[in-house]
Amino acid sequence: MLLRNKFLLLLALAALLAFLSLSLQFFSRWLPVSLQLKTEMQSFPELPVRLISGAQRREEDFGAKNRKRIMPDPLTEPPALDPIYEANLYCNTPGVKEKSMEGHAPPNLKLLSVQAVIRHGDRYPLYAIPKTKRPDIDCLLEPSRKPSHPYLQDFISHMSRGLEAQMDGSLSSLPRLPNHRLCEMGELTQTGVVQHLKNGQLLREIYLKKHRLLPKDWTAQHLYFESTGKSRTMQSGLALLYSFLPDFDWKKINIRHQWSTIFCFNHCDCPMRNHFLEEEQRRQYSFRVKNSLLEKTYINMAKIVGVPTRQLKASNPIDSLLCNFCHNVSFPCTKNGCIDLEHFKVIKTHQLEDEKERHEKQLYFKYALLATHPLLNQTASRMQNIAEGKKGEVFALYSAHDVTISPILSSLGLKEARFPRFAARLVFELWHDPDKKKEHYVRILYNGEDVTFQTSFCRNAQRNSKRFLCPLKKFSSYVQKEMFFSFNSTSYYDACHQRLF
Ligand SMILES: *[C@@H]1O[C@H](CO)[C@@H](O)[C@H](O)[C@H]1NC(C)=O
Ligand SMILES: *[C@@H]1O[C@H](CO)[C@@H](O)[C@H](O)[C@H]1NC(C)=O
Ligand SMILES: *[C@@H]1O[C@H](CO)[C@@H](O)[C@H](O)[C@H]1NC(C)=O
Repeated sequence: MLLRNKFLLLLALAALLAFLSLSLQFFSRWLPVSLQLKTEMQSFPELPVRLISGAQRREEDFGAKNRKRIMPDPLTEPPALDPIYEANLYCNTPGVKEKSMEGHAPPNLKLLSVQAVIRHGDRYPLYAIPKTKRPDIDCLLEPSRKPSHPYLQDFISHMSRGLEAQMDGSLSSLPRLPNHRLCEMGELTQTGVVQHLKNGQLLREIYLKKHRLLPKDWTAQHLYFESTGKSRTMQSGLALLYSFLPDFDWKKINIRHQWSTIFCFNHCDCPMRNHFLEEEQRRQYSFRVKNSLLEKTYINMAKIVGVPTRQLKASNPIDSLLCNFCHNVSFPCTKNGCIDLEHFKVIKTHQLEDEKERHEKQLYFKYALLATHPLLNQTASRMQNIAEGKKGEVFALYSAHDVTISPILSSLGLKEARFPRFAARLVFELWHDPDKKKEHYVRILYNGEDVTFQTSFCRNAQRNSKRFLCPLKKFSSYVQKEMFFSFNSTSYYDACHQRLF
């Protein structure tokens, strides 16, 4: 009797549980999008169009998430991604003075050279969301408008001079300042200019005033400046250079043009690099289509906008929405409703999750090793030359894109590094110990943070009894050989031309 009662009780309990679980699944499908937050991280805002179709990230299966929430596993559950926090970092809105570890080294060391790769500053979107009003952003520079900078007025006048400037052909036809009342697609904004005036000022304080990197009578031989062919990269580089060397003499500036966003110079032929990029795009695509919440969000947004879902996705809406977000302009509305912060959070969360999966799968890492070798090789060679007392530019500036910096971070092994924000800077410093003729060291800094000992080649550097420095030869041998070990190769050429397996 007692046994039978217990049995019935268990049966009832099981039925109840089954019912609860079913209804939970049912309701979860119908939860409003606003309750189903997922985060998306950066996509490849500036990848070639070919990539954009695959650029929306994976999404997470909501059912699976729900189960996770019922049985949380503190050991495997990833730390929560916060899409709004991350989006704010990405905007990099000029405000508080930031801390920076550039130029920090033991006092007896001498700084020999600095090479910086920057991402252009804040820009207008590259794509418009169809059938909606474009964000109203003014790209005419106006020092009385915020955000501003003490050098902005002088920078504007300096840019209008400089007829003697030497630039590679296609750059000389670009405007030196943003100049449209309503920004054009991809145009640098005043925010973007101010971000780089700040970068230049910060580097000036440390490298010129404190470490006297450039002699007073510096010439064109001391300076290297290379930019891709977009007005936003050239203007960003000029803004940084202007506050780094206020009122510089245009005759001493020689701006080189780089046609490739990965700065591969004359070493661009690399079939395996393309192979890994395609594999990575496939991964991205399958990660995205798994994300049913993301899919629903796009469908919902497409309804609001009144275009087919495919067309909405193709317009890469996160790139546009980030502009609204960074400039505190409300998201677009139509007669069917408004795009809102919840849509934004879902796509941004997906980008963040995609970044994580990208690191785990390593396809992007392999792409990155091959994509960045030419630029890292040039960086290391310049250091090596200077260390050997040969000629070399003591300050080099590469004005570039997210798709330039992101693979460098990956190939250096900087797994924790965030996707490059607007006006991101990646700096390589070369130091020398005058008491020890042969000792040269590198430091690597990302947005002012010292990441030298997070790189794959200096992660296990022995701790020197007195100080903790990364020898130049570790960096050089990584770039010349070890980079290719994951392809079972010892050279760039071999790794690039392996038989596809
Ligand atoms: C953003 O815009 C809203 C409404 O237009 C305003 O109340 C708020 O102060 C703005 N925030 C910032 C940081 O400018
Ligand atoms: C690497 O740098 C050296 C020295 O500048 C150069 O001779 C060589 O061609 C470069 N190789 C690649 C693949 O970039
Ligand atoms: C590299 O070589 C090892 C041993 O010969 C082999 O097991 C591995 O699969 C190879 N890896 C690649 C990427 O070819």
